[in-house]
Amino acid sequence: MFVSKSFLALHSELLNTITNQETFKRMNKRQRSLSQETEELLNKQVELEDISSAIYLSMASWCEINGYENSAAFLYEHTEEEKMHMMKIFRYINETGGHALVPDVTNIKHEFDSLRKVFEEVLEHEIFITNSIHNIVNHCYSSKDFTTFNFLQWYVTEQREEETLARRLVELFDIIGVDGIGLWTIDQEIGKMASGSGGAGTAATAPQA
Ligand code: FEO
Repeated sequence: MFVSKSFLALHSELLNTITNQETFKRMNKRQRSLSQETEELLNKQVELEDISSAIYLSMASWCEINGYENSAAFLYEHTEEEKMHMMKIFRYINETGGHALVPDVTNIKHEFDSLRKVFEEVLEHEIFITNSIHNIVNHCYSSKDFTTFNFLQWYVTEQREEETLARRLVELFDIIGVDGIGLWTIDQEIGKMASGSGGAGTAATAPQA
């Protein structure tokens, strides 16, 4: 059978390309600075940040249809912040030789008992996220991954600020009370905490990331 020279040349070129790609992949793997365990922990955190975003989106929607427009605005804003938290880790994983995985977030609840319950759950969730971040920081310190340890310091600071903010929101219910125009007033105060309003949220989450 006649095979043209150009076909053989093309075939050989293709084989070279594949071989080079395989070599590159192997080299890339050897040169990765992220350990497998740290990569898995970071991918888990990517998922948790995405879950946070979805939870706050669901809470925002509930607030909106129940007439708490300022609380909804606050929570919509935090939905975006959590997405950004997720993306920072996502990009870091790939930049350091790992493989960032897109989370599959399901089973987000859509109903809440009250406005107070919404913000109590926000606080509870933020404490959970803080513990998760601290767990990865502890792992990085123990395994001498000082690059990721350093990268995560931003999250340590962010979590302290987010917890403080969530506590202040829950305290509003005790300070103002929910009787009469109490809930309306609380919703107004929560609106002032959103960064877009120039309220406390601006100072508490200055990097907004
Ligand atoms: Fe990204 Fe609110 O934790």
